[in-house]
Amino acid sequence: MKIKAAEAALQHVEDGMRLGIGTGSTAEEFVRLLAEKVSGGLRVQGVPTSERTARLCLELGVPLKSLDELPELDLTIDGADEVDGALRLVKGGGGALLREKIVASASSRMIVIADESKVVETLGKFPLPIEVNPFGLATTRIAIEKLASKLGLSGDLKLRKSDDGAFTTDGGHLILDAFFGRIPDAEALATQLNSIPGVVEHGLFINMASFAIIAGPAGARTMQ
Ligand code: 5RP
Repeated sequence: MKIKAAEAALQHVEDGMRLGIGTGSTAEEFVRLLAEKVSGGLRVQGVPTSERTARLCLELGVPLKSLDELPELDLTIDGADEVDGALRLVKGGGGALLREKIVASASSRMIVIADESKVVETLGKFPLPIEVNPFGLATTRIAIEKLASKLGLSGDLKLRKSDDGAFTTDGGHLILDAFFGRIPDAEALATQLNSIPGVVEHGLFINMASFAIIAGPAGARTMQ
């Protein structure tokens, strides 16, 4: 299903495009298909949203530029952890949410590729990744907890771990995964998280996706 979504997204890639390239297993299927097109003569310049995606692109021969070299992009194609009916997203399961958000906001359009399991009525079943500065972690955690309780949200904040300690993002930050369960007012949470100084970015992507390609057993459909 991930491949089906990636195939459908590839139809929107045109010769000469400046392309933001997402992170995660669905985005990686897209990179594999894109690499085949590139070897067949398609010319694109890709800006990767993570070191992991950059490595795969380099391995498969997809030409890359930095966002500083290409500060404005035509299209970003990326996966998501959750998509609701208003195309609000939760992203960051792969820990790349900051670069993903910067790259998506540099793009004229963002296409989300996902399978049906990612479509939800209300965001929040997937824990919301919140990228935080390591300095003042305890203070930032308390501020997020207070905000959550003000907004009527409950649930634990868990510091994301990797095999060798705390998970560190490409930007050198930490991730607190917020197990809120249900986020009825994603806009309010997004705005107020941004006002906490230790919060670098959060995984709520609102008004960013142009449309989503959702693949299920019967094929791919577009959500807009
Ligand atoms: C990475 C992301 C991914 O797009 C998201 O986690 C979906 O990944 P997958 O396609 O593997 O389910 O936001 O930070």
